[in-house]
Amino acid sequence: MKVETRPLTEADLPAARICNRTAFSTFYGMPDPSAFRRGADVIGPRWRVWPEGAMAVDVDGSLAAVGLMMHWGSVCILGPLTVLPKYWNTGLARRIMTALVEVIEHEDFAFTGLFTHPQSPTHIRLYEDYGFVMQRIIAVMAKPPMAEKAPVGLALFSEAADPEGELDSMQALTHGIEPGLDLRREVRSIAAGGLGETLILRDDRGLAGFAVCHHGPDSEASEGQMLVKFAGAASGAQAPDRFARLLAAIESHAEQRNLAKVIVGTNVGRSETYRIMQDAGYITEMNGIAMMRPAAEGYNRPEKFAIDDWR
Ligand SMILES: CC(C)(COP(=O)(O)OP(=O)(O)OC[C@H]1O[C@@H](n2cnc3c(N)ncnc32)[C@H](O)[C@@H]1OP(=O)(O)O)[C@@H](O)C(=O)NCCC(=O)NCCS
Repeated sequence: MKVETRPLTEADLPAARICNRTAFSTFYGMPDPSAFRRGADVIGPRWRVWPEGAMAVDVDGSLAAVGLMMHWGSVCILGPLTVLPKYWNTGLARRIMTALVEVIEHEDFAFTGLFTHPQSPTHIRLYEDYGFVMQRIIAVMAKPPMAEKAPVGLALFSEAADPEGELDSMQALTHGIEPGLDLRREVRSIAAGGLGETLILRDDRGLAGFAVCHHGPDSEASEGQMLVKFAGAASGAQAPDRFARLLAAIESHAEQRNLAKVIVGTNVGRSETYRIMQDAGYITEMNGIAMMRPAAEGYNRPEKFAIDDWR
């Protein structure tokens, strides 16, 4: 068996999608691979945002394993990592991890985070071997959007008169959540690919918050759903109120688009964020565990008002 590790290319995307669906549907015991996050594509959008952060392993010339990462400025998020089930337990995940860690080490990240299954000792052990340390639970939460009125000050990035100015304000806002945290690549990619919308919420002091939302074909959201990849409120005393308004903006946007469900995740270390989401009616559908390399709290702290999807 000839095994080769190499960068993932655009031509690999269809095979990488199959690898991802087959691996996860097998893991979850789903007989139909297309039923796993039906209609969602986490491979294409992620590869387009940061192709250099994606690796593949070929076995005898065909793709057998794939791993991607997200570049959020000073923060890297690793995942998803998948191996075709017929090759499980032959060391392919370790090959991908070795290659991804090499990419990470050439960048200047403050930390890399990942989302994994807290109930799986083998997943945890795999990542621990590469320097990741278990942190707190990430709650993936959901809610059918209620007929909220759009809050005052809501605008859409796709209609912005000064997109570069908006991107600068977003960068300043995320820098207040975590030094160097930068979602501009994600915002640009959604706009370029028509993968959803970035919501902009202003108040009398400027940008109060923004939400990077996937929905529709080719996006990371499942059919009929809206997936919030990242949303954050400007830090400070008014942050809880800004965050609650941002949640209302997210719901009103989903409602307008006739989407049946909003999917959002937060690390429970952001305890105030988690509480506001519970108060707003969000219910946890799945728990993951955050692992960090090096061990760090990052922005998973009570006074940080952010939601993000690390899956
Ligand atoms: C988890 C996964 C990537 C491991 O791939 P792999 O190539 O079999 O892993 P390796 O052979 O390199 O072995 C790495 C470790 O993973 C463990 N592992 C292998 N298959 C596994 C499975 N189905 N579930 C959990 N752990 C598994 C191995 O036991 C090994 O741990 P150990 O050596 O300490 O016992 C693969 O099983 C997979 O694609 N699973 C479904 C998708 C998934 O869960 N991805 C990770 C999301 S965080």
